[in-house]
Amino acid sequence: MELADYLERRRAAIEVALAEALPAPPACPPVIADAMRYSLLGGGKRLRPLLVLAACEAVVSADEAEALRLAMPAACALELIHTYSLIHDDLPAMDDDDLRRRRPTSHVVHGEGMAILAGDGLQAAAFALLARLPVSDGDPLLQTRKLRVLATVAEAAGAAGMVGGQALDLEADPSPRHDRARAGRGEPAPVDAERLADMHARKTGALIRASVTAGAIMGGAPPAALAALDRFAREIGLAFQIVDDVLDVEGASADLGKTPGKDAAAGKPTYVSLHGLVRSKALADECLVRADAALADPGLSGSQLPALARWVVERRT
Ligand code: IPE
Ligand code: IPE
Ligand code: MG
Ligand code: MG
Ligand code: MG
Repeated sequence: MELADYLERRRAAIEVALAEALPAPPACPPVIADAMRYSLLGGGKRLRPLLVLAACEAVVSADEAEALRLAMPAACALELIHTYSLIHDDLPAMDDDDLRRRRPTSHVVHGEGMAILAGDGLQAAAFALLARLPVSDGDPLLQTRKLRVLATVAEAAGAAGMVGGQALDLEADPSPRHDRARAGRGEPAPVDAERLADMHARKTGALIRASVTAGAIMGGAPPAALAALDRFAREIGLAFQIVDDVLDVEGASADLGKTPGKDAAAGKPTYVSLHGLVRSKALADECLVRADAALADPGLSGSQLPALARWVVERRT
């Protein structure tokens, strides 16, 4: 199947599953349900859920319906967590952005307090979903897979992963409002290439890596395939944030659905500020070459994963 067809079909299924995954009244108050729905169902490329599904399908290649049954809850959970991270990332206390997914950001519409709570609610909903679905009915194999996915996603979302990366990002942001993040240590220390790669691997790479791993675990990938998929995912995770940095400089608001030029205006360390545009693009291309190589060994090159990886690097949105 061509990537465009694959994206269209899987995205349609993801949108339906996401709408079902959202907490709704009467279980929760309408005011928080509305705020969560606004950000979750307001567009987005759905890269992380697509990776969960594609990784699972790569492993369970014979049975598409079974792959979707096994992996869709994790696919939705990763998108719930990603959306929470975007809501918090945009807050005035963090990047202070007012446009996201072509719409005013959560705090602009619902106020800061409700935006914080919408993020919190989305994150909790993600873990509830991972614990609940797919129903394991006492099947020990499925229970084990679900527990492994829960641990993987929790680690990737937390201080060792995304939250840790966001903390490094704040610590390195020279805006006066982040002074206290450095506990009175003054100007941020200069960020070298190694520290920047680590920051990117955490703040963005960790959830992308967990997406691929979660899909592979739910599909029952043997250890060698799992290790190869993890190598693949590390590369595209880093490439994704390098390209995000490049698009902040070269991209158009109409394509991105967010405001470009924010990183340079804030004086944030990025791949472009450290390596320049040309070198940053070359580094993303190198990630892509290594990602493709990782899939060759376990014979996973026939899946949708190579095309998804190329899209990560070549996208304009
Ligand atoms: C943006 O992620 C934030 C980063 C982690 C760089 P995406 O570019 O995947 O945003 P959506 O989900 O398509 O809106
Ligand atoms: C955001 O990185 C990463 C997370 C949300 C965890 P950025 O701050 O670069 O993302 P954008 O550019 O606002 O989408
Ligand atoms: Mg940020
Ligand atoms: Mg941001
Ligand atoms: Mg960015």
